[in-house]
Amino acid sequence: MAVQTIGDIAGLRARVCAAKRSGERVACVPTMGALHAGHGALIDRARAESHMVVITIFVNPLQFDREDDYERYSRQLDADRDVCEARGADLIFAPTAAEMYPEQPSAFVDVPELARHLCGEFRPGHFRGVATVVAKLFNIVQPDAAYFGEKDAQQLAIIRRMVRDLDFPIEIVPVATVREPDGLALSSRNGRLSPSERRVAPLIFQALEEGRRLVDSGVRDSSVVKEAIRRVLAAQGMIRLEYVEAVDAAMQPVETIGAGSRLVIAAWLGGVRLIDNVVCRV
Ligand code: PAF
Repeated sequence: MAVQTIGDIAGLRARVCAAKRSGERVACVPTMGALHAGHGALIDRARAESHMVVITIFVNPLQFDREDDYERYSRQLDADRDVCEARGADLIFAPTAAEMYPEQPSAFVDVPELARHLCGEFRPGHFRGVATVVAKLFNIVQPDAAYFGEKDAQQLAIIRRMVRDLDFPIEIVPVATVREPDGLALSSRNGRLSPSERRVAPLIFQALEEGRRLVDSGVRDSSVVKEAIRRVLAAQGMIRLEYVEAVDAAMQPVETIGAGSRLVIAAWLGGVRLIDNVVCRV
């Protein structure tokens, strides 16, 4: 059946309520559009585990710390519709900014303990915008489960914490990062890399892999591992490292790498900011 696109909250709620009344399990995949195979993996997993799959496509102004980044964010609803249809989604919820924010919002969701460092340190207000829009989307769609990519590990940790603290009756399902054959994590921002930037971008993952190899060899001191990652990136002048950190499962920086630790990174290539992470095999 063709995927249906709905722009208004009332219309979306009516469709989902009818499905839930008939006992259907409803899955939600929140996105900002510009869908790629990473989103495809989220949709596939949601499709396999639910009766109704709702994809939300909304470029959320609240989570952009730079106006130009918001303006330049890729918007391609027709192409996104094709992806959703090919993957068997049932509904697209694609509201306008006026539908989502009819007036300047004055209520926000904040998870400061998890949002103040890593990306949060460099993108003030970003995670407040993410948590607020995801809470709104959860209240609008009222899904049984929601699917998020592990590439955005800090976002995932914040959403999990928000769901726990605010008692949303929603299962949060993490889905592994999808990579290009050369290791670059799929991202809607990759399309903005110039050909020469695209050629060096896989070094970000290679640097993380180098860090992980050190951990495999028994190194547990996070400063040694981070220094090795910095060295790999410094050898390539085009990449500007924003941060590299070793964190625990709750995304808190650790001095000693242990089970569940992740190496996380954010780096710039020209005007494009990329993030990535790997889990240590301890
Ligand atoms: O990961 C994203 O695409 C966005 O941050 C999200 C979760 C859809 C909220 O706007």
